[in-house]
Amino acid sequence: MKSVAIKGVKEVGVSEIEEPISDGKKVIIEIKKAGICGSDIHNWVAGAPQGLVMGHEYAGIVLDRGDRTDLNVGDRVTSLPISPCGECQACKTGNPQYCAHTWEHALGLSLDNPGAYSKKIAINGDLILKTPDNLTDEEVAMVEPTAVGLHAVHLADIKVGAKVLVIGGGIIGLVSALFAKKEGASLVVVSETNSARGNNAVRLGVADKFLDAKDENFLANSMALTNGGFDVVLECCGNSPAVTSAIMTCRPGGKVILVGVATDAITVPTTLAVLKEIELQGAIAYTKEEFASCIDLMSNKQIDVMPFVSEVVPLEKVQDAFVELTNGTSDKIKILIDPNM
Ligand SMILES: NC(=O)c1ccc[n+]([C@@H]2O[C@H](COP(=O)([O-])OP(=O)(O)OC[C@H]3O[C@@H](n4cnc5c(N)ncnc54)[C@H](O)[C@@H]3O)[C@@H](O)[C@H]2O)c1
Ligand SMILES: [Zn+2]
Ligand SMILES: [Zn+2]
Repeated sequence: MKSVAIKGVKEVGVSEIEEPISDGKKVIIEIKKAGICGSDIHNWVAGAPQGLVMGHEYAGIVLDRGDRTDLNVGDRVTSLPISPCGECQACKTGNPQYCAHTWEHALGLSLDNPGAYSKKIAINGDLILKTPDNLTDEEVAMVEPTAVGLHAVHLADIKVGAKVLVIGGGIIGLVSALFAKKEGASLVVVSETNSARGNNAVRLGVADKFLDAKDENFLANSMALTNGGFDVVLECCGNSPAVTSAIMTCRPGGKVILVGVATDAITVPTTLAVLKEIELQGAIAYTKEEFASCIDLMSNKQIDVMPFVSEVVPLEKVQDAFVELTNGTSDKIKILIDPNM
C-alpha cells in the first residue's frame, strides 16, 4: 500500500508499507484527506523517527468496523489520534490529553501506528467519531487542528474585552485567534516572522492586526497597542524567540499559554515571568468533548475553517509541500493530502 514515510533530515518520500488488516478489534479506515501539521514539520526537520508514516489529522470512511459494532462499513469518520489508557486519573477525569500513555501509540506519531499519509489506517475504535454529511472531507480533516485551538483558548480563560496576542500565524495560531475572538476578546493581534502569513491572519478576518515579529520596534508596538501588555498571549510556534516574546509582551499578572512544541530544551527569560507574576500554562491536544464540539461548530456553520486550507496534494507531492511550508515566505497555511489523487 502506498504511503509517505520519513527518509532522512528534511526528507519524506513514497514508501510501500503493509496494508492494515483488522484483528477483530481495530477499525480499518480508508483515508480521504489528511493534514500536514506543524508537529509533522518538526519531525521532517529532524528526519526522525526514520520510517515514520505521519498523519494524525484525517477524514476517512470505515472499511472494517473492528470492535465498534455501532459503526457500519462506509460510515464517514475521524478520530482523536491519541492512545490514552482509559484507566488513570487523567483519563478518568476527562483529560486523556495528558495521560502518560497518550502519545505512546498515537496515530502517525509513533512507529507502531502508521498514520494517515497513506491509503488506509488501523486504529483503536474508542476514539472514533462519525461525521455529519454536511461536512466535506476537507473540513473533517481540519477538526483535529481546530480542536487544538479550542483547547488552548479554553485554558486561556479569555475575558470579554481582553487583549490577546497570538504568536505564530500557522493553522494553530489562526484557529486560536478565531476562538479568542469568539470568546469576546476586544483586540486580537497575530505576530509573525513571515509577513505573508501575518497579513493572511488579518485578511481572513481572525486578527484585528498583524505585528511583524522581526521589526525592532515589535515590543514597543505591542506595549503602545495595549497600554502595558496583552492580557493573554497564546504562543503557537515552539521556539525560544517566540516564547521569549510571549513573556515580554504579556502584561504583569497576565497569562501565557504555551501551545508550540519545542523539540529541544529552549532558553527563555524566566526572571521576567517571575517579576511580572505571569502565569505560564501548557496546552496539549484536546479533550474528546472539545474534539466533538469542533465537529458540531463546523456542522452548524458557527465556524468556517476552509479559508485556512491552501492546497490539496497527492502523496507524491508531500515532500514539496514540506519544503514550501518551511521556506519562511510562503502564504500557504494548511496543506491537505489526498492519497487517492
Ligand atoms: N500543543 C498542542 O497540542 C499542539 C498541537 C499541534 C501543533 N502544536 C505545535 O504548535 C506549533 C504551531 O503549529 P502549526 O501547525 O501552526 O505550525 P506552523 O509551522 O505552520 O506555524 C508556526 C508559525 O510560527 C511562525 N514563527 C516562527 N517563529 C516566530 C516568532 N518568533 N514570532 C512569530 N512567529 C513565528 C512561523 O513563521 C510559522 O508561520 C508547532 O510547534 C506545533 O508543533 C501543538
Ligand atoms: Zn497536529
Ligand atoms: Zn490514562
